[in-house]
Amino acid sequence: MKQHRIGMIVGSNSRESINRKMAEAAIKESADLSFFEIRIDELPMFNRDLLTAVPDQVTRFVGECQQAMGFFIVMPEHNRSLPAVLKNAIDWGSKPKESNVWRGKPTAIAGASPGAIGTAVGQQHLRQILGILGAVVLGGEAYVSYKPELIAADGSFAVESTRQFLRDYLSDFSRLVSRLA
Ligand code: FNR
Repeated sequence: MKQHRIGMIVGSNSRESINRKMAEAAIKESADLSFFEIRIDELPMFNRDLLTAVPDQVTRFVGECQQAMGFFIVMPEHNRSLPAVLKNAIDWGSKPKESNVWRGKPTAIAGASPGAIGTAVGQQHLRQILGILGAVVLGGEAYVSYKPELIAADGSFAVESTRQFLRDYLSDFSRLVSRLA
């Protein structure tokens, strides 16, 4: 039985997000973890003045993060960094400091871009931020150079090597989650 519930966060607010497609294909490959999506695209811009009257979207987001055993973040790279919509969500989850939702949570990162180095630089920035916030970030790397033929009509991976790679990566993540549970 899949016992550990992982919050999947897509670091893009595009309706046509290739990272959403990849995230949805990847989670089909995990034998051990169950996933639910934590949406970030409706969050207002972080402003510490709002911490005294927290907007409903933030309350919902923080509550879902608290329920997650860990996180699977799948993100594009924007100008060699993480997208602003994702940084905004991380900021909301980090404050107030006493209820930082990232602390101690196992977190796996992956990303896709049409370019050759598939989000490698942006992911390094994300790793740095999550390290500071105390998340336990899975080692290894999952950078995918995205081509439309990567995903089949049913939403699963059409390329066997990518399927196997993400399957192994999520198996590693499952072991990390179990160790920390
Ligand atoms: C990009 N893109 C991009 N790609 C990349 O590999 N490295 C980069 O630094 C950037 N920078 C960047 C900045 C901005 C503002 C945009 C809008 C796009 C291209 C990006 O990878 C492409 O748009 C992906 O489709 C984004 O992923 P989603 O949103 O489709 O999941």
